[in-house]
Amino acid sequence: MIKIAPSILAADFGALREDVIAIEKAGAEWAHIDIMDGHFVPNLSMGPDIVKSIRDASKLFFDCHLMVEDPKMFVEPFVKAGAELITFHAECVEDMDELIDYIHSFGVKAAVAIKPATSEEVILPILHKLDMVLIMSVVPGFGGQKFMPEVLDKVRNIRKHEHGKDIDIQMDGGINAETAALAAAAGVNVLVAGSAVFAKKPYTETIRAIRESAEKAANA
Ligand code: DX5
Ligand code: ZN
Repeated sequence: MIKIAPSILAADFGALREDVIAIEKAGAEWAHIDIMDGHFVPNLSMGPDIVKSIRDASKLFFDCHLMVEDPKMFVEPFVKAGAELITFHAECVEDMDELIDYIHSFGVKAAVAIKPATSEEVILPILHKLDMVLIMSVVPGFGGQKFMPEVLDKVRNIRKHEHGKDIDIQMDGGINAETAALAAAAGVNVLVAGSAVFAKKPYTETIRAIRESAEKAANA
């Protein structure tokens, strides 16, 4: 099943609650929450207090993408703020196995993300423990960048190695109705879209267009 996860990094921060309510009404299943620390990526976004302040605005599934150098430090604060899935980056974690167990110990889902330059081979040994894999289709740090089609082969390779587990595979960066089709055809089922969704109201139309194009490509 295709799930749409608008990245609230592209929302109106001055009206964040209203935008969260709007994407839920527009049919999104998840809210993708980009957390940046100015070290792992050269940008800052939001902390747990912001996440907490929008938690009760909707029933959306809260997906926290931690682009931070020390993800372990932030697991508990973001879970307490309402995160239901914690994604950390493979590039900054030595013992991924241990961190996955630590995230699961809070009763939430765990995912690993990889940058465009990182091989998916690093994930294959821990695939059986993961709830989701996030394949970045831009260099993390900023919204509004161009989709990198060369990452699609990673998705095909992960699907080959999942042994019927039917894991969620998320793609993040440069997703619109056109690139969503490429991602879904490769095996992606969770689509993050920031600038495409929040570019114009109502958000319903863009979310529907992304979903329809992904579903068509997935079933082709
Ligand atoms: C990039 C973030 C993305 C980003 C997506 O570092 O992880 O979630 O906000 O934005 P768009 O859809 O504009 O590429
Ligand atoms: Zn993200």
